[in-house]
Amino acid sequence: MKDTIRHLIQQALTQLTADGVLPEGLAPAIQVENTKDKSNGDFASNIAMMLSKQAGMKPRDLAEKLVAALPADDGIAKVEIAGPGFLNFFQNSDALAQRLEAALADTRLGVRKSGASQRTVVDLSAPNLAKEMHVGHLRSTIIGDGVARVLEFLGDEVIRQNHVGDWGTQFGMLLAYMQEQPVGSDAELSDLETFYRAAKKRFDDSAEFADRARELVVKLQAGDAECLRLWHRFNDISLSHCQALYDRLGVKLSMADVKGESAYNDDLAKVIADLDAKGLLTESDGARCVFMEEFKNAEGNPLPLIVQKAGGGYLYATTDLAATRYRANVLKADRALYFVDQRQALHFQMVFAAARLAGFVPPSMDLEHMGFGTMNGADGKPFKTRDGGTVKLVDLLEEAEQRAYALVKGKNPELDDAELRQIASAVGIGAVKYADLSKHRTSDYSFNFELMLSFEGNTAPYLLYAYTRVASIFRKLGKGVDEIGGRITLVADQEQALAGKLAQFADVLNGIADKGTPHLLCAYLYDLAGLFSSFYENCPVLTAEDETTRNSRLRLAALTGRTLKQGLELLGLRTLERM
Ligand code: ARG
Repeated sequence: MKDTIRHLIQQALTQLTADGVLPEGLAPAIQVENTKDKSNGDFASNIAMMLSKQAGMKPRDLAEKLVAALPADDGIAKVEIAGPGFLNFFQNSDALAQRLEAALADTRLGVRKSGASQRTVVDLSAPNLAKEMHVGHLRSTIIGDGVARVLEFLGDEVIRQNHVGDWGTQFGMLLAYMQEQPVGSDAELSDLETFYRAAKKRFDDSAEFADRARELVVKLQAGDAECLRLWHRFNDISLSHCQALYDRLGVKLSMADVKGESAYNDDLAKVIADLDAKGLLTESDGARCVFMEEFKNAEGNPLPLIVQKAGGGYLYATTDLAATRYRANVLKADRALYFVDQRQALHFQMVFAAARLAGFVPPSMDLEHMGFGTMNGADGKPFKTRDGGTVKLVDLLEEAEQRAYALVKGKNPELDDAELRQIASAVGIGAVKYADLSKHRTSDYSFNFELMLSFEGNTAPYLLYAYTRVASIFRKLGKGVDEIGGRITLVADQEQALAGKLAQFADVLNGIADKGTPHLLCAYLYDLAGLFSSFYENCPVLTAEDETTRNSRLRLAALTGRTLKQGLELLGLRTLERM
C-alpha cells in the first residue's frame, strides 16, 4: 500500500510540474508512514512540508493542490489534510478485505519485493576456527540468518558466505602443539577450548616452541603439505563443532557456505600488486598502506589501511579486499551485507573505500556493513562466565533448553517427556534467538534468561503461544481454511485494526531487506499478536452470530495464523501447533 501511495503522489507531482505549479527537476524521496492514530487515517505523508520551500508555497496550500491532483485509486477511500500540511490517507475497507483475500490465496501471502530482485551476498557468523565458537558470534549468526531468510522470501538470490578465521597466526601455535602431541585420536581434539589453552600455555612458556610456531605459519601459508594436512584435520573438527551448533540453532548454514580467510590466500599478492599498479600504496615503517583523504584520526593525521606488514605478511584487511572482488567478479553480487560487530565499522569503511578506489567492485555494487552492538550479561557488563572466561555457545544453549523445559513442565505437567523436550527446545532456542533479534541490532543488549523466557511482553514464548491460540481455533473447528467458504468483510473496529496490520506484512519485510533490521519484524509480530487478542476477545469467531460473519472471522484468523507462522519462520524460530 505504501508503494501505491508513493506512486500516486509521484503522479500528482508530475502533474503539478507539468501545470507549472512546481519547478522542474524536483525528485524528492517520498515518505509514507503508517499512522499511529486511526482517526488520522491509515497512512500519512509529509511531502507537502518537504517541498513547500522549493515550491514557494505554504505547506497547506501545496497539500491542497496535491490532493486535487492525486489520481483516484480503489484502495483509498479518502485523503485529508491535517496539521501543518500532512496528507492523511484512509484505506477503503472493501479494497483492504480484497487484498487480504488475495494474500490468503497466495503461498507467499501476497508479499513481493518492492525493488528489483538482486543477487545478495550475506556475510555472517564467521567464527575463528582456532577456538570454540563463543557467544561473540551469536549475534552475527542469528541476525544474519534472519535477514538472509527475509531476502530469500522476497525473491533475492542469497549467497551466504561464512568468512571463518582459519588462517591467522594462532594456527602456527596449534600445529606446533599437534606435532609434539602426536594427537592420536580425534577425541583429544574434541575439546578445542582446552586444546587451545594448552597450546597457548606452551607458546607463552617456551621461546623455542614459539619460534617453531611462527615458522609453521610461514610454512603453512607457503603450502607445505604436512602443515596443510594437520591444518585440515584441525579445521574439519572445528567446523563440525560449528555445524552442530548451526543445526541446533536452526540456522540455515552448511559447510558449502564456508569460504574462509584461507580461501583468498592465492589472491593476496595480486591484491597488493593491483593496488600498487593503481598508485594506491604508500610505504610507512616498511609496511604497505593505503591512505585515503576521508580517513583521519582525532588529531587530523591520515589513518593507514595496512595491507602488508614489514615482514611481508598479509592482514585481515588484505583478505577482505580480496573477498570484495571475489564477491563482485565470481559471485556477481549486486549487493554484499556484512553482519559483523560494530567495533569493526572503521575497518569496513576503509576496506570498502579502498575496494572502490582500486576498482575491485563495480560502482553499481552495494557494500554495506550491518554492524551490531555487544552482547552483555544481565548486569549490563560484558558477558562472561562466573570465573571471567568467555561463555561457550553450547553451554548457553544447553541452559536455555533446560530452563525452558522446567518452565513448560511447570505449565503442562501432564505432557509426555518426548513432547516436553521438543517444546522446550523450540521455546529455549527460540527465546535466545528472539531476544537478540528483537533489539535494534546497533544497540548493545543484555542477555537475560528470565526476561527472554517470560510469557509476557515481546518474547518468543509469547509469540509462539499466540500462534498456538490461532491454531487451536482450527483444531476445534476440525477443518482448514480451504474448506470454509465466504469472504472477509471488515465491520468491527478490531477487525479493521487487525486487517490493517495484516496488510503491512510486505512493507515490513521490505524495510528489513533495505536496512538489515529484523527487530522490525519482531515488533510487527508482537503488534499483530496483540491486535489478534483484542479481536478474539471482542469478536466471537466459532460462536459468531451468523455464518457470513463466522466465515469472515475464520478467514481473518487463518491469515493471522499464517502470517505469524511465516514471520516466526523468517526469524528462524520453530513454531509449535500446541504448547
Ligand atoms: N572472523 C572475524 C571475527 O571474528 C569476523 C569476520 C567477518 N567477515 C569479514 N568479511 N571480515 O572478528
